[in-house]
Amino acid sequence: MSGGDYGDRGNRDLSIAKPGGMGEARPVREGGHEHAAPGGPFLIGEAMTGGYGRGADILHSCTIAVERGEIAVIVGPNGAGKSTAMKAVFGMLNLREGSVRLDGEDITELSPQARVRKGMGFVPQTHNIFTSMTVEENLEMGAFIRDDDFRGTMAQVYDLFPILKEKRRQAAGELSGGQRQQVAVGRALMTQPKVLMLDEPTAGVSPIVMDELFDRIIEVARTGLPVLMVEQNARQALEIADKAYVLVQGRNAHTGTGKELLADDEVRRSFLGG
Ligand SMILES: Nc1ncnc2c1ncn2[C@@H]1O[C@H](COP(=O)(O)OP(=O)(O)OP(=O)(O)O)[C@@H](O)[C@H]1O
Ligand SMILES: [Mg+2]
Repeated sequence: MSGGDYGDRGNRDLSIAKPGGMGEARPVREGGHEHAAPGGPFLIGEAMTGGYGRGADILHSCTIAVERGEIAVIVGPNGAGKSTAMKAVFGMLNLREGSVRLDGEDITELSPQARVRKGMGFVPQTHNIFTSMTVEENLEMGAFIRDDDFRGTMAQVYDLFPILKEKRRQAAGELSGGQRQQVAVGRALMTQPKVLMLDEPTAGVSPIVMDELFDRIIEVARTGLPVLMVEQNARQALEIADKAYVLVQGRNAHTGTGKELLADDEVRRSFLGG
């Protein structure tokens, strides 16, 4: 894979964006919206400081955000606090300082469950599927907050990831790494989120499968669903990123567009192997 390959990816199939589809996040909502905050990021964890329990702080005034209609990517060395920052945005960490806002609304005090109801879809880095359940049961579990008919959404997930339809009666634990990640992303999409947070969606998959997953993620983003994701494949991630963050030791080390960071000498030297 060479640089710039991702320029027009995801344009082939916009089925998931059809009216009534998942991509319901819009820059301007019809009928107005009490939390509308024009110009601000759609989701932001701002100046977050905190750690686990009574332990030392892991995050130090760390900020990550995603704008409407964009893909934001977080990269950085192992242990930098990328997952911790995602968990903080999702409400799994008690922040000592900082705030989290979704569509202009301060949600810093909300539980993860309440954030899901507000429209956050989160795929954690580990334990992101129920391995003993079938693929379809995993998707059904994803729809737990919904009391309407979710079959249309399930059909959209199967359109996006056709292999999951084929394997819908199989235990998710029997699937390949890449297919499991599709289950995890599909499960998150079942809530019809307004923003999708992915922690290393391509972990442990081959380069070809990674490419394919990136394509699908771009496709989802193109429907208007903002995507905030952590990626270990820094170069590829920066290529598809509208906005990118390099975290080091719980702090923002570099922030810019994906292009800017790819062109930054210091970022190249330290994180991209020259
Ligand atoms: N549940 C936890 N309890 C206490 N400390 C934790 C916990 N999870 C992570 N940490 C610590 O927080 C720091 C940041 O870890 P984190 O998992 O956020 O890094 P990361 O950037 O996601 O790394 P990786 O690239 O390996 O996924 C590390 O020092 C780690 O040991
Ligand atoms: Mg992590």
